[in-house]
Amino acid sequence: MKEVKNICCIGAGYVGGPTMAVIALKNPHIKVNIVDINEQRIADWNDADLDKLPIYEPGLKEVVAETRGRNLFFSTNVDQGIQDADMIFISVNTPTKTYGKGKGQAADLKYIELCARQIARVAKRDKIVVEKSTLPVRTAEALKDILSNSESGFKFEILSNPEFLAEGTAIDDLMAPDRVLIGGDDTPSGQEAKDTLSAIYEAWVPKEQVLQTNVWSSELSKLTANAFLAQRISSINAMSALCEETEADVDEIARAIGMDSRIGPKFLKSSVGFGGSCFQKDVLNLVYIAKSYGLTEVAEYWDQVIQLNDYQKRRFADKIIKKSYNTVNDKKIAFLGWAFKKDTNDTRESAAIYVADHLLDENAQVVVYDPKVPAEQVYADLEYLNTHDPEEIRKRVKIVNDPYEATSEAHAIAVLTEWDEFKEYDWNKIFASTLKPANVFDGRNILDKKALEVIGFNVYNIGK
Ligand code: NAD
Ligand code: UGA
Repeated sequence: MKEVKNICCIGAGYVGGPTMAVIALKNPHIKVNIVDINEQRIADWNDADLDKLPIYEPGLKEVVAETRGRNLFFSTNVDQGIQDADMIFISVNTPTKTYGKGKGQAADLKYIELCARQIARVAKRDKIVVEKSTLPVRTAEALKDILSNSESGFKFEILSNPEFLAEGTAIDDLMAPDRVLIGGDDTPSGQEAKDTLSAIYEAWVPKEQVLQTNVWSSELSKLTANAFLAQRISSINAMSALCEETEADVDEIARAIGMDSRIGPKFLKSSVGFGGSCFQKDVLNLVYIAKSYGLTEVAEYWDQVIQLNDYQKRRFADKIIKKSYNTVNDKKIAFLGWAFKKDTNDTRESAAIYVADHLLDENAQVVVYDPKVPAEQVYADLEYLNTHDPEEIRKRVKIVNDPYEATSEAHAIAVLTEWDEFKEYDWNKIFASTLKPANVFDGRNILDKKALEVIGFNVYNIGK
């Protein structure tokens, strides 16, 4: 096993930041440098005011407070980070390709390749290179190819160590992971590299939960895990549509099937549709990989998970329109929540974006309140779709800092994110100021339906 004194992580995002902060916390003898080309992001990570960290995650600022400046550092000097490190994590973004071959499905590996080339160019000794980003199976082959062809002649051992944290619970997930997965070659030097990385995690994770596999199994396990998780949500959401036709209750069904120990109770919460930067991206990537091996049936099977999710978002918007006497033209629709789930400021692929877009097609006025998402992010998300011009978006979409302002005079109220605070609002006060009939569309099934009906609201749930 090699001794690691210095770690560099390329990419100070939702994964790199929290993951490295916890590794630094649990391994005070290792210096951890997180580097990124995004100057603003690094400045925010270094901000003396811990409330200005670029990522909101419960518990994160406490970990950063303890480690930053001790053995955790943030910098834009990528070359220096690479040179100093014994082990380099690559934790850059791997978005869906928006151009060329595989557009709309394949993962764009441009940033990964740039990192590999930079490591090959500036490294001055042997390194262990760890894929932390989620990557298509066999990406390590390309990394190996680039690194082994570098002129330096140094030896680079490639490991796959995918991350399974979920946003909003990142710190808890990192502190007590179900498992840590490390894939690497079965050669003596590959085994040594796997053991070296295992030892870093074993500073706090029980040994039996640190799993070693070959590199391809590790890469493909990550895509498989996300596909299975996304599939569970699409499966329960498919049943929610059937429930709405049959007076069955999707939450009762989830409870009934979840008590079967073979199915289990988690991840069966029906919703307006899953969002987040990864489920859609990773399932589409799986579809692309299957297609590229000629496995059409496999590709079509997984593609249905995405199609069902699109259907669920559209179905929710359609219900708002239908219950608004088939028109939302110039009507004020209040959105409670914009983030893709509670306890995060991340909005990537949030269902709210697509529901709003659908309502904008019908000329609605959308007023958004979210406790953590700034106005400019909402506009950027809608503009990114390229379906409405920016001027029209700014005219039709308003972002407010007060939920009571959002709901006042609204024709409909829609819950898009399951923020706990929505349950605590003074719904009598909201009822007094909203237009009648007072329609609430609970896209997360979090509100007390009976209590709201007693007040006078019509409450439309998912799958009830
Ligand atoms: P992110 O966009 O938040 O962060 C990526 C960072 O990498 C950005 O700050 C970007 O500036 C930086 N970067 C890109 N190219 C660079 C380069 N050449 N040099 C230096 N910095 C560079 O992304 P993320 O959400 O942290 O995701 C990173 C990876 O982890 C993705 O593959 C994702 O699929 C995977 N993942 C994400 C999550 C999650 O919850 N967000 C969970 C598990 C796995
Ligand atoms: C997900 C996985 O849970 C992580 O294990 C994985 O590491 C990560 O993707 C990734 O690879 O990026 P994340 O997207 O952060 O994590 O959050 P989830 O809790 O999985 O929620 C994803 C979406 O599904 C959210 O929009 C959430 O509201 C929705 N969801 C989740 C449901 O609609 N129902 C559920 O029962 C659970």
